[in-house]
Amino acid sequence: MTDPEASKPPPGRPHRFEPLPEWVGVSTRLVHGARRPEYNAGAVVPPIYQTSTFHWPPERSESSDRARPYLYTRLENPSLEVPTELIRGLEGAESGRLFGSGMGAITATVLSLLRSGDEVVALAGLYGGTTDLLTDLLPRYGVRVREISVADARAPESVVGERTRLAIVESPTNPLLTVHDLARWGQATDRAGAILLVDNTFATPINQNPLALGADLVVHSATKYLGGHSDLVAGVVVGPERLISRIDSKGYFGAAVDPFVGFLLARGLRTLSLRVARQNENARAVAEAIREHSAVTRVHYPGWGGPEEEAIAARQMRGRGGMLSVSLRGGVEAAERFLSRLRLVHIAASLGGVESLASVPRLTSHRHLSAAELAARGIDEGLVRLSLGIEETADLVRDVTEALDALPGS
Ligand SMILES: Cc1ncc(COP(=O)(O)O)c(C=O)c1O
Repeated sequence: MTDPEASKPPPGRPHRFEPLPEWVGVSTRLVHGARRPEYNAGAVVPPIYQTSTFHWPPERSESSDRARPYLYTRLENPSLEVPTELIRGLEGAESGRLFGSGMGAITATVLSLLRSGDEVVALAGLYGGTTDLLTDLLPRYGVRVREISVADARAPESVVGERTRLAIVESPTNPLLTVHDLARWGQATDRAGAILLVDNTFATPINQNPLALGADLVVHSATKYLGGHSDLVAGVVVGPERLISRIDSKGYFGAAVDPFVGFLLARGLRTLSLRVARQNENARAVAEAIREHSAVTRVHYPGWGGPEEEAIAARQMRGRGGMLSVSLRGGVEAAERFLSRLRLVHIAASLGGVESLASVPRLTSHRHLSAAELAARGIDEGLVRLSLGIEETADLVRDVTEALDALPGS
C-alpha cells in the first residue's frame, strides 16, 4: 500500500532547481536552467503562482529557512524565482533579486548600500533616470556624487578614491554607445575598497558579463532585452549573496514584480540568445550601411570611437549589441523628417524588443537634462537612437537607408 504521506509535496519551498551538467552552453541553460518538475506537478512550463500570500501554518513558521514556506509576494514568490535563477546563471552570479522595473532595481541597490557621507562616482552619460536619481535625490541624503566625463573615465584609477563607496558604470553607454574598460574599473574599485555596479542593459549577458570582468554587482532593465517583447516592465540586480542580501532585504522599497510578469520574463528569457544574435547582426548591418551616408555626420556604434575603444570592445564583448545612434546633418528638422519616413521601425522610447524602435534621446530618455547638460554629454539635436529588432536584415537596412535618402543634402 502506498503511504499517503509519501505523495505529499515536500514541506516548505523548493529552493533547488535541478542541476544541469557543467558542460551545457548558454542557449541550453536558458531553456533548461530553472527546472523543478517535482514541485510543479510535472509541468514543463513553470506555472504562474498568481497569489499575494501563502498558507502559513504556525508550526512551520519556526522551521529553518530551507523548509520555511513562502510568506508574501512582495517579498517572494516561486514565479519570480524562475527568471531570477535564469538571469543569475547567465551573469555567473551567486544570487539575484528581481524588481518591478530597472529603476526599482537601481534605486533599491543604491539606497541600500549607501549612507550619508559616502561618495559615489558615476559616469556622465548614464541612463537619464539613473542620472536623475544620483544628481537629484542622493545629495538630499548627504551622499556626494561625482560625475566623471568620458575622457576621465578612461583612467578610473585617478577618479576612484578612498572616500568612494560606489562606482556606477554603463558600457556601452546610452545613447552614444561609448565602451568603457570594465576590467580597469574593476581593478580601480577593488584597490579603493569600493563597490562597482555595472548597468548591463545595453550589452545583455549574451554579449558581456561584467562580473567576470571585475564588477561587484550587475543591474538590468529586464524591460528591454531580457523580457524582449516590449510587453513587461521589470528589473534585476545580481552579484554575491553578501551584497544581494543587503539590497532591500526587508522589501520596504515595495518595487515587487507581479507573478504574471515573472512568468512573461521567464518566457522571454528562453529565446534571449537567439534574439540577441539576430539583433547583433541587424545593428551591425544597418550601422555599416549608413556609415558613409551623406545625411549622416556620425554613426555611434560600440567600438567605433577609435582604436583604443575598438580594442576594449573586442576584449570584453562577444557581440556588439543591437543598438546604434546616428547624428544627422540638419539637427532637429532632419531628425523629425527621418522619423516620419520610417515605414517599419516604430517611433517609441525603450529598446531591446523584437521590433525595431527609433527614438530621439533629447525628447525621451534624456528629456530631464538641460540644453547645456545635453551638449556637455555630446547629445546633439539631430541624434536619433535605433534599437534593432529581429526583422529581416535586408528590410531594416532598406527602411533606414530610404528614410535617410529623403533628407536634404543626401
Ligand atoms: C540603460 C538603462 N538602465 C536602466 C533603465 C531603467 O529601466 P526601467 O525602464 O525598466 O525602469 C533603462 C530604461 O530605459 C535603461 O535604458
